[in-house]
Amino acid sequence: MSDGGSYRVRLATAADIPAMLEFQTPPGSEPQATADRLAHDFAVRVPADQTFLVLAEVAEGVVAVARASWIERPFSGPDRIPTGWYLQGVRVAEGWRRLGIGRALTKRRLEWLDKRTDTVLYTTTAANRPSIALHRSFGFEQVATGVDAPAAPPRADRLLFRCQRRGFERPPPPPEILS
Ligand SMILES: CC(C)(COP(=O)(O)OP(=O)(O)OC[C@H]1O[C@@H](n2cnc3c(N)ncnc32)[C@H](O)[C@@H]1OP(=O)(O)O)[C@@H](O)C(=O)NCCC(=O)NCCS
Repeated sequence: MSDGGSYRVRLATAADIPAMLEFQTPPGSEPQATADRLAHDFAVRVPADQTFLVLAEVAEGVVAVARASWIERPFSGPDRIPTGWYLQGVRVAEGWRRLGIGRALTKRRLEWLDKRTDTVLYTTTAANRPSIALHRSFGFEQVATGVDAPAAPPRADRLLFRCQRRGFERPPPPPEILS
């Protein structure tokens, strides 16, 4: 599943958790909390088709990780992101950026999502120009500002983006009954 260059894109597994920690641990958080969350993802959410985890690796090891997740919100409101399918947590190791890896991981996740939805969401902060440019190149458009995130309160500079997918693979219509 290579998208060119000297890296390979593949599904992540529970065996990759140690390598994934540096990419998926939020600043100021304990790696063990991330390890526990990833273990739960692989044991529960991945088999339930609620989370999709991919990574890019080179000969030296993992250089990027990304996820797609179904996020169910217990509440709604203008400053609350809606329930839906989200691209989340794409991170490429410094030194491996601007080589197309973020694009390859995003393409792979959208291909997976195209079998599940025609609407994909994503949030980031207004200052994250690389992330916004990457997602805009796939057709994401800003639809709200000042929104929250699954584990964080609303922030004036957090933006919600939406992508209406044309490649959504709708189930085939039922066969016509032949008389
Ligand atoms: C955002 C990020 C994942 C991009 O990964 P990447 O592998 O460097 O991206 P790619 O090489 O695939 O670039 C794809 C496109 O994204 C945009 N882009 C990426 N980095 C950019 C930068 N520094 N400035 C402007 N645009 C950028 C460009 O449109 C680029 O296309 P181009 O190279 O043809 O111009 C990477 O910068 C990163 O890990 N950042 C830190 C974590 C983060 O903020 N993740 C997003 C969370 S919402």
